[in-house]
Amino acid sequence: MTNPIYLALDFPDWRSTNQFISTYELQGIPVKVGMELFYKEGTRVIEKLKENNHPIFLDLKLHDIPTTVYRSMRNLAELEVDIVNVHALGGSEMIKRAKEGLNYRTSSHETKLIAVTILTSMDERTVHEELSLSNRLEDSVKHFAKLAEQSGADGVVCSVHEANIIKAACNASFMTVSPGIRLQASSQDDQKRIATPAFARKNGADAIVIGRSITKANDPYKAYEQAVKEWENEA
Ligand code: C5P
Repeated sequence: MTNPIYLALDFPDWRSTNQFISTYELQGIPVKVGMELFYKEGTRVIEKLKENNHPIFLDLKLHDIPTTVYRSMRNLAELEVDIVNVHALGGSEMIKRAKEGLNYRTSSHETKLIAVTILTSMDERTVHEELSLSNRLEDSVKHFAKLAEQSGADGVVCSVHEANIIKAACNASFMTVSPGIRLQASSQDDQKRIATPAFARKNGADAIVIGRSITKANDPYKAYEQAVKEWENEA
């Protein structure tokens, strides 16, 4: 992989996705495919992206009973993407079974499993009042990260602001992947806990996910380049 900066392909279909990638010459960069695109195009979109050698994070955030997640992961393993994920709120048994499903095939390809701790669109108030979690947001994130690690996950999706806390609480090899990234001078949209690529790296993120800061930029190619530059300058 050239860099660990995943572009979130939050487009409605393959036509608009492909048009965006080819217009701005972003072939081969790491990409994140989420529910919107996957539910429209299915596994075909993964095959198309692999033809262009994109490293792929398939962000479907599975959250169901352990057996269903196990069986679904067996199917996802066949796609041979680089990263898939589950919600850590599904509990340790579900995470363990997700990993078993991924390892079911005896292929040399490794798909990493990461777990969402708390969505980065949530803040302290939402977590207390709506989810009824009594811990501080930061403590809940740490709790879910450790639960995921103990259950066999390879890392977590977390806010940039919690990446360093997770790095301190878990093994150094436990990956931290952070969305909620904004390039300087772009809007916050619906993300509540945001940061720049440089801050993300400094604060312990191993990889970042960027969507609208690039897709809605006047010049997406330049915006992606800027993200890489900001990330690399922190090396
Ligand atoms: O446009 P923006 O940069 O906010 O996009 C962030 C991407 O990361 C979206 O595709 C969103 O679904 C995803 N994501 C997130 N928070 C998580 C997990 C994934 O924002 N905890």
